[in-house]
Amino acid sequence: MSKVVVIGAGVAGLTSALLLLKEGYDITIVARHLPGDLDIEYTSPWAGGNWSSFALPHETLLQDYDKAAYGEFHRLAKEAPEAGIWYQELSVEEIPEGYDYGFKFLSVVISTSRYLNYLWAQLAKGGVSFKRCTLSHISEANGLHSSGKKPDLIVNCTGLLAYKLGGVEDKNVYPIRGQTLLVRNQASKMMECDQVPGYPNELVYIMPRVEGGTIIGGTFWANDWSSNVDYDLSERMMKRALAICPDLIEGNNPSEMDIVRHNVGLRPGRIGGPRLEAENISGVGTVIHNYGAGGAGYQSSYGMALKVVGLAKKEKKITSKI
Ligand SMILES: Cc1cc2nc3c(=O)[nH]c(=O)nc-3n(C[C@H](O)[C@H](O)[C@H](O)COP(=O)(O)OP(=O)(O)OC[C@H]3O[C@@H](n4cnc5c(N)ncnc54)[C@H](O)[C@@H]3O)c2cc1C
Ligand SMILES: *[C@@H]1O[C@H](CO)[C@@H](O)[C@H](O)[C@H]1NC(C)=O
Ligand SMILES: *[C@@H]1O[C@H](CO)[C@@H](O)[C@H](O)[C@H]1NC(C)=O
Ligand SMILES: *[C@@H]1O[C@H](CO)[C@@H](O)[C@H](O)[C@H]1NC(C)=O
Repeated sequence: MSKVVVIGAGVAGLTSALLLLKEGYDITIVARHLPGDLDIEYTSPWAGGNWSSFALPHETLLQDYDKAAYGEFHRLAKEAPEAGIWYQELSVEEIPEGYDYGFKFLSVVISTSRYLNYLWAQLAKGGVSFKRCTLSHISEANGLHSSGKKPDLIVNCTGLLAYKLGGVEDKNVYPIRGQTLLVRNQASKMMECDQVPGYPNELVYIMPRVEGGTIIGGTFWANDWSSNVDYDLSERMMKRALAICPDLIEGNNPSEMDIVRHNVGLRPGRIGGPRLEAENISGVGTVIHNYGAGGAGYQSSYGMALKVVGLAKKEKKITSKI
């Protein structure tokens, strides 16, 4: 069996590993952060988690990435409740007063922590081993496959940390800071308002969690590395959320916002878009890069992982399982 070391246990690494596993590769995942960890350097747990493509009409590559996840997320929403993906639908009649327009659409919301754990469980079931460790150079991956042997391929899913790592630091990678709140209050529906007068790069979104509670966002602040919570911003976000979704403090909900946590996450932006390609690095071996999905890491995860599988097959024909 061809041996693969996947670096990174965010949504990109876990999904790449899952699709490679289905093709019969023998995989070890090595990562500084694993599902369950909460850290400014680990983006995946912080996502709001909707599917709503940002790809423009001419961006056909990005459209392909997003399309694949759309199908898979619908399947999971129907068939695998343990994955934490569920349907949200807003009808035109439900648009709040004062808003000019709305859409009727069916999409999914992803309870991100639950989904990461689901991917982890699928991988563990399939015999994938996990190792918590921090690599200072990509060549170290060659000594980390569970078989003790050198892997045939390394898959680099290091997210934003691709910027900071020694060696060939990718300076096209930059953070897009997102601050959100997790509250115990339960919103009845997913809502979104893309522009806030007077506050550029702030928006309002409300994403109810399938396990209870709601994520309220958010910001799109490029090149801001700060992990500090901006509490004034939290206040603004709560006010805006209540204005469009008063039922957050009605019915069985608490009479005011009941905060579980203030979240700050850094989306892995990349000038020129995500990096998805194979590279023969001298002294290391064949590396497949998969990072830099910015604000679309969940919705593009399947399509990008499918491309990883295609590249892996091209670089390394899978050797027999026997
Ligand atoms: C507030 C917010 C809202 C968002 N909303 C959405 C949304 O609605 N829909 C959507 O699709 N996306 C959304 N995103 C974007 C999405 O979260 C990211 O694109 C995605 O999580 C990136 O995943 P990743 O696996 O590339 O990186 P990460 O999750 O950061 O994972 C990187 C992994 O690499 C490991 N690693 C890195 N360097 C090393 C090293 N040297 N040695 C060992 N391990 C290493 C880390 O430990 C970690 O395991 C949002 C993001 C934020 C912050
Ligand atoms: C992943 O690729 C990036 C960009 O080439 C590089 O900076 C980084 O060092 C690689 N990751 C690891 C763990 O070596
Ligand atoms: C999904 O969330 C993003 C913010 O992360 C937002 O820009 C987009 O419009 C949202 N889509 C819907 C349908 O809510
Ligand atoms: C890497 O090297 C192998 C064999 O030397 C070659 O077949 C493959 O095409 C190369 N891949 C890239 C991305 O350069």
